Amino acid sequence: VIVACGTSWHAGLVGEYLIEELCRLNVEVEYASEFRYRNPVISSGDVIIAISQSGETADTLVALENAKKQGATIFGIVNVVGSSIARMAHAGAYTHAGPEIGVASTKAFTAQLVVLHLFALKLAELRGTITPERFRELVHELDAVPDKVAWILQHQEEAIQAIARRYIDAHDFLYLGRGYHFPIALEGALKLKEISYIHAEGYPAAEMKHGPIALVDEQLPVVFVATRDPYHEKIVSNIQEIIARKGKVIAVVTEGDQVVTDLAEAVMTVPAADETVSPLLSVIPLQLLAYYIGVAR
Ligand code: M6R
Repeated sequence: VIVACGTSWHAGLVGEYLIEELCRLNVEVEYASEFRYRNPVISSGDVIIAISQSGETADTLVALENAKKQGATIFGIVNVVGSSIARMAHAGAYTHAGPEIGVASTKAFTAQLVVLHLFALKLAELRGTITPERFRELVHELDAVPDKVAWILQHQEEAIQAIARRYIDAHDFLYLGRGYHFPIALEGALKLKEISYIHAEGYPAAEMKHGPIALVDEQLPVVFVATRDPYHEKIVSNIQEIIARKGKVIAVVTEGDQVVTDLAEAVMTVPAADETVSPLLSVIPLQLLAYYIGVAR
């Protein structure tokens, strides 16, 4: 069970996908504030992964204390060394992202994703659910992330600033993604709300047709996380549905993706990466977009 709040909860969702895929284990991701007040079924032998930048979030801390009393093992993924959650956990890994000064958790989020990936890889190796070749491939993929992030910062900032200026007057934004990028859509929307005070919602792209599509018109920018992954064709058809209703599509795309580039009004490009690693890249343009819209407003 992964327990967290806010941005850390979004990292937990990515962790769920990683651990289920690589380790073939059931994972539930819980809002600490709900987990704390209801009466969850916890057995000794259960492992609670607590994710927290500050290590002091009260809902997370109390949820863990309750679970610990019921015999759960607590593994903390915490940024602040020596914080309350770090001290009460049985085991854990610090993210060592450095202090988060502003309200928006950004580098701590990407660091949480890295720790969750390493955790899933090690667990998969121990459980024998990953081949040595796939293990090595993913370690190399993780190793390549800093250079790929540097590429985004070097080559995309100007484009993102221009997008920010273009959509500065929007009252609402919708963020859509599938698979590993559904949590990234949620995180993009949260960053925009926190930093620019614009209303934004994140949604699984395929859920859109079950209600939110009613809101789409020429006033609504819809941000798709549409990088090349096994869902690419499906996300292209989701983009077409939005365009049919005159929504303005902004997309995070993989370098060289002409299909989505031709459909969207504006794109932010990221380098190609393995699906399991790509959330680490696709979140960066969304963090920058929120930042530059905030600055522009
Ligand atoms: O310190 P924590 O990670 O436990 O904090 C949880 C949330 O309050 C936090 O992630 C919040 O959502 C951030 N301000 C988001 O940027």
